[in-house]
Amino acid sequence: MIDQKSNDKKLLVTAALPYANGHIHIGHLVEYIQTDIWVRFQKLTGRRCIFICADDTHGTAIMIRARQEGRSELDLIAQMQAAHEKDFAGFGIQFDHYGSTNSAENYQLCSEIWEKLRSEGLIREADVEQLFDPQAGTFLADRFVKGTCPICKSPDEYGDNCNKCSATYSPSDLIDPVSTLSGATPIKKTAKHLFVQLEQLRGFLTEWTQSGEHLQPEIANYLKGHFLGKPLRDWDVSRPEPYFGFAIPDSPGNYWYVWFDAPIGYIASTWQWCKEHQEDLADWWKSDQTQIHHFIGKDITYFHTLFWPGVLRSAGYALPTFVHIHGFLTVDKEKMAKSKGTMIRASKYLELLDPSYLRYYYASKLGSRPEDIDLNLQEFIAKVDSDLVGKVVNLASRTARFVETTGLSLEYPHDGGLYAAGVVAGEKIAEAYEQGEYSRAMRLIMELADAANGFVENTAPWTLKKDPGQHVRLQEVCTIVLNLFRQLCVYLTPVLPQLSAQCGKFMQRDIVAWSDSQQPLVGTQISKFEHLMQRVDPKKVQQMIDESKEASKTESPVATPAATISQAASAAGAVGVEPLVAEPLAPTCTIEDFAKIDLRVARVIKAEEVPEAKKLVKLTVSLGGDETRTVFAGIKAAYSLEQLQGRLVVIVANLQPRQMKFGLSEGMVTAAGAGGTEVFLLGVDSGAKPGHRVH
Ligand code: 2FM
Ligand code: ZN
Repeated sequence: MIDQKSNDKKLLVTAALPYANGHIHIGHLVEYIQTDIWVRFQKLTGRRCIFICADDTHGTAIMIRARQEGRSELDLIAQMQAAHEKDFAGFGIQFDHYGSTNSAENYQLCSEIWEKLRSEGLIREADVEQLFDPQAGTFLADRFVKGTCPICKSPDEYGDNCNKCSATYSPSDLIDPVSTLSGATPIKKTAKHLFVQLEQLRGFLTEWTQSGEHLQPEIANYLKGHFLGKPLRDWDVSRPEPYFGFAIPDSPGNYWYVWFDAPIGYIASTWQWCKEHQEDLADWWKSDQTQIHHFIGKDITYFHTLFWPGVLRSAGYALPTFVHIHGFLTVDKEKMAKSKGTMIRASKYLELLDPSYLRYYYASKLGSRPEDIDLNLQEFIAKVDSDLVGKVVNLASRTARFVETTGLSLEYPHDGGLYAAGVVAGEKIAEAYEQGEYSRAMRLIMELADAANGFVENTAPWTLKKDPGQHVRLQEVCTIVLNLFRQLCVYLTPVLPQLSAQCGKFMQRDIVAWSDSQQPLVGTQISKFEHLMQRVDPKKVQQMIDESKEASKTESPVATPAATISQAASAAGAVGVEPLVAEPLAPTCTIEDFAKIDLRVARVIKAEEVPEAKKLVKLTVSLGGDETRTVFAGIKAAYSLEQLQGRLVVIVANLQPRQMKFGLSEGMVTAAGAGGTEVFLLGVDSGAKPGHRVH
């Protein structure tokens, strides 16, 4: 029994506030489903817990989108919020309160916290030079500027990095820069910005992040290696007008940057909930009797593990008990892409498939580490069919009709210890949920389901049915199987609330607590069995991909590219945590070892399709003069042939030639990245010539 927890502190749980400039897609849902499962588990075990979220509504992206769509920001954010809430409800994400960062409560809290930061001497002012669009009358974030790459001279590149040669630079380095908002030539303009001097909080931040109590170890190490080893950069928390956000009361013409007011939105949304429930905000945000748990994606690590604790502590609020950080979603091992139909909107999924499928699939993949998870569509179909329909629901569908009229036996029959084993396993399952190790919980539950199915096979109720002399035994067998089914449904309740509710209705006893798994039902009636869950229709899965692909062609190209990740990443520095974890450093090699590898600069003189190969392109590269090589490179998903044609690469020129199905490969092109669309060719600065050796 785990209902009587020794830890009786209240829980306040949040998931990241989604931006109001885009729809919810299956990538976002990893986090909301993950958090919802945790919250539902806590509530089921009797813990006092509230789940708080809100729309994140401010910023340049919203302002520009509203302008482009010819409507007010308020109209845009209201419509988006309604769409978000509908999507979340469709997936059974049950918030206790869903607010908006554009609320009176949030403004009041931002103002109070700001005053506190000022009085602590944490704010400083400085001039910042930025590109400005004189026609649109707005400062331009890097992604809103295009021009010619200063390195390789490729035209039409974005203001922060070049797609062709992968160089990174500042937008003011671009040749012939153009604002993507108006087409005007941007000018350089200086404006006053306000900064939080994070370095002053170093002592506290080091202790809080490195205590081993609040962060996953990978995250603590990442912060130590990337931020805490050098002075913490002052954090720019203001934007000059025009900006859609809250005006800073003591700095006319300036607004709080969206990332300042967004996390404060967690508190504001809690406050709204408190007002509705006659609760005191201080009991939730200023009390050591409450534990605060944030669930976020790894791209916004910096904000939640350095800046946010710094603000909370300086303003006298409680600190997060734990920040649970998850990885990104890939689909069939590739980054989600609209053009491939894998950036599937929540609403599109809901049109075609049962949300329980995705909740279960994600649960079966999620652990407590900040690792990426892959949605493999074939596995998705197979897992749902085999586990949920084949192992769980089948228990009820194979036995229910035999006891529809008699109900369950008056006493729980001897079952060889199956139910009791389920009770014992419940402890481990609960522990796995508590730790966020859902994949382990699902495995343990499926082991119980396997044992129950073994019992059905051995007792063969359909054979007992044929012999009137065995009908008492038949009732006993069905009593056992249906109780095992119900026990599984209790354990699956955090993941599959819908199945749990159906089970409650069918067995005429709602599942309301984890302890419902500890005591079998006897002598009760059951309702007529209705189908609980269908197999996944693969045609619907394909239709979902096809229609998502189709929709992407007609979507208006709003100038808000990759706002979520790029805003976060550029403000925080490179935030990804996984490369070194995914591929630890190799053992030391000597200079002689290295010298054996002849790396050369080469120019791609021909890039060709290899029609039979999914991932490869065929490159003919020149090493200068007549010296050429043919190499096959697995970069098809990341580069178009046009992007490759003419560019410089670095190849391993003395690699032993290898006969491949498609021809002889005479070297290897060097690249970094995880694979798929995440491949980045090594380039060289201008001036290097084909044939130059890389030392
Ligand atoms: O990355 C994002 O999508 C942000 N809108 C998350 C904000 S979370 C919190 F800080 F508000
Ligand atoms: Zn370039």
